[in-house]
Amino acid sequence: MGIQFENTNAVNIIELRGVSQSYDKGKVSVIENLDLLIEGESKQGQFAAILGMSGCGKSTLLRYIAGLQKPTSGKVLVKGKEVGKENRVSMVFQQYSSLPWMTVLDNVALGLRFQGISKKERNERAMEMIQLVGLDGHQKKYAQYPTLSGGQLQRVAIARSLMSNPEILLMDEPFGALDIKTRLQMQDLLIGIWEKFSPTILFVTHDIQEAVYLADDIYIMKHAPSRFVKHIHVDLPFQRNRDTKRLPHFNNLVHEVEDAMMLIESEDI
Ligand SMILES: Nc1ncnc2c1ncn2[C@@H]1O[C@H](COP(=O)(O)OP(=O)(O)O)[C@@H](O)[C@H]1O
Ligand SMILES: [Mg+2]
Repeated sequence: MGIQFENTNAVNIIELRGVSQSYDKGKVSVIENLDLLIEGESKQGQFAAILGMSGCGKSTLLRYIAGLQKPTSGKVLVKGKEVGKENRVSMVFQQYSSLPWMTVLDNVALGLRFQGISKKERNERAMEMIQLVGLDGHQKKYAQYPTLSGGQLQRVAIARSLMSNPEILLMDEPFGALDIKTRLQMQDLLIGIWEKFSPTILFVTHDIQEAVYLADDIYIMKHAPSRFVKHIHVDLPFQRNRDTKRLPHFNNLVHEVEDAMMLIESEDI
């Protein structure tokens, strides 16, 4: 049993079909016959959140889509093609993934350096992104804790991930380590980024309120051997802001997701 995903005429952005992951010569089955389909308009990306217990394979799915890992079996398509170098996919991890021996500016500009873009141009473009994520004034600091706070380091990671103008942004519990106020600020920063750049965002979180606030669609995975068992469409206004959280329907959705998760975890489906 699982969600039935049917292709429509919309743009096929991310498609996983019959994906299984096992380790130890098949003795350990982590993911079994998993399907996921994210479709949408090509201009405005989708915002999908993934929820599921620790160890159910959420990070593994993101690694497939980023082209960092291949499943034991099944297919993983980005825009209808096997994952390859031509796809513009960026990833933001929970752990601070910046290079601590480099400055904020050099971290953000790093991808452009590999593309052979001149230092002047890459610094200009990196500075624009640094301003956008609210790090102006910190560009010369080393990208390390405690020189920068946890929230600032995640801003560096987000700025870096946006430099390649990604069509797909994979975010793996990106705000999980942040204090609550910083987390709320980062959620609003992400909404602004999504509206400005329109990538499709696949966002893994353990925070139900965060998922409802940010996403258009929430997909819930069951524990291993994993697959998607529940889809909840978040029918809140397109423009989200802090008032969205005051809507009675916001709380209804939070309860709906919570109930679904409790049900999934209590049944062996
Ligand atoms: N190389 C490996 N060998 C054995 N098990 C692995 C390996 N890599 C990942 N796993 C297992 O795969 C499962 C899914 O991992 P992960 O995708 O990180 O889960 P999540 O992100 O949902 O917490 C975990 O139980 C993990 O222990
Ligand atoms: Mg994970």
